[in-house]
Amino acid sequence: MLDLLAQPGIQSHDQWQVQIQAQTQQRADVYVFAVGLCDEEIRSALFTPVRDLPHSLLTIPILAKPDQRVDLPNNKEIPMTDYSPKPEHKFTFGLWTVGSRGADPFGSATREYRTPAELVYLLGEVGAYGVNFHDNDLIPIDATPAEAEDIKKEFRKALTDTGLVVPMATTNLFSDPIFKDGAFTSNDPRVRVYALQKMMNAIDLGVEFGAKIYVFWGGREGTETDSSKSAIESIKRSREALNFLCDYTLEKRYDLKFALEAKPNEPRADIYNPTTGHMLAFISTLDHPEMVGVNPEVAHEHMVGINFMHGVAQAWEAGKLFHIDLNDQYPGRYDQDLRFGSRDIKAAFFLVKFLEDVGYTGSRHFDAHAYRTEDFDGVKDFARGCMRTYLILKEKAAQFNADKEIQSLLAEIHADDGKMNPYFGAYTPQKAALLKAHVFDRSAIARRGLRYERLDQLTIDLLLGVRG
Ligand code: NOJ
Ligand code: MG
Ligand code: MG
Repeated sequence: MLDLLAQPGIQSHDQWQVQIQAQTQQRADVYVFAVGLCDEEIRSALFTPVRDLPHSLLTIPILAKPDQRVDLPNNKEIPMTDYSPKPEHKFTFGLWTVGSRGADPFGSATREYRTPAELVYLLGEVGAYGVNFHDNDLIPIDATPAEAEDIKKEFRKALTDTGLVVPMATTNLFSDPIFKDGAFTSNDPRVRVYALQKMMNAIDLGVEFGAKIYVFWGGREGTETDSSKSAIESIKRSREALNFLCDYTLEKRYDLKFALEAKPNEPRADIYNPTTGHMLAFISTLDHPEMVGVNPEVAHEHMVGINFMHGVAQAWEAGKLFHIDLNDQYPGRYDQDLRFGSRDIKAAFFLVKFLEDVGYTGSRHFDAHAYRTEDFDGVKDFARGCMRTYLILKEKAAQFNADKEIQSLLAEIHADDGKMNPYFGAYTPQKAALLKAHVFDRSAIARRGLRYERLDQLTIDLLLGVRG
């Protein structure tokens, strides 16, 4: 056989290759880019020839579908066009997100109820990595112990069947009427201790399913009228509760960190610790600040019109970015929880670029829900869309970092001849004296154009797909 193959001009298909080709082509159109074979030869092997690869990739219809895989030659010049989610992307959704039934303050549910296990299968189908839950997303607040066991069993089976994991869990301290005036900050002491009891049970539940991050979102921790509560007392009550729960977690030896999520308003007129920055300051006052970080949410900061990425960067720089809630939001409106990247593409781009550039390794959690107009196919479109947009923006970020014109412009913008170096760094009296004596040519410095218009237009061109 080896002798046969060694003969010049021998051409013999291995029958296994032929079988594999036949099986593949029952399920897929196969496009072949080959140097050294003419189109006729490729067609005679039942493949479709491709000549101009980047152009052809844009015209092959199958690439428009999010869950299709495309194998490309190892050519760095060719953009990545495979936007299918993989476990390493760490895309997660809450049971409350894909399980949202579309109710709003003006209308009731438009989608039927799905069990937690059914939602896990849905997430498995769209390619998510993990699923997160509030205690009562999984176990209704009034469930009997036997009912709870049945639900957990079914949920665990769905996790095993799909391979999904539970990286984060959280507690619902906002839906039940008992929390109408808050949980840890309620004026009723019975509510404050009930909240602690509910938290401990919910932490146990999260840990049982493997959660390593525990999110605290105090949606009801606020006021409609400031005549009702002391803002200082509320901060103290929140601190005491957090300290209690840190000690509970430490005593139980749980491998768990807390992530505090800020929101300025809704459902309360005003919520305490309204931004990620407030949360960071609050964390530094806790007994165990090392086990507490933040869970910033795009929508919660865009509601008040502030730059979300800046808050995320501050959290990251402080070593406190434990988790992140991705979605979208028009500023100045009620909490919309829109599909990630569907409103402000530029802000989403700089956020994804930030997370990828710094090497954030936590979950990319989508805390959003499908439009009320959708059925469950639309919910899948929504979930796929969140992940696809993230991956497209990730690719755009890599393009930005590799774009020669953008990078040389940045190098020009950040140019530093080192002449000011003697004045930077720690204070010394000598340095201060030297600096006081330095003469600056203010107008010459101010005259320099910074070329940010050009840089931003290059970014826009890149995002709009007309670069490279
Ligand atoms: C529901 C809130 O809308 C969301 O923003 C938060 O992340 C989760 N609850 C977690 O508590
Ligand atoms: Mg959130
Ligand atoms: Mg939200």
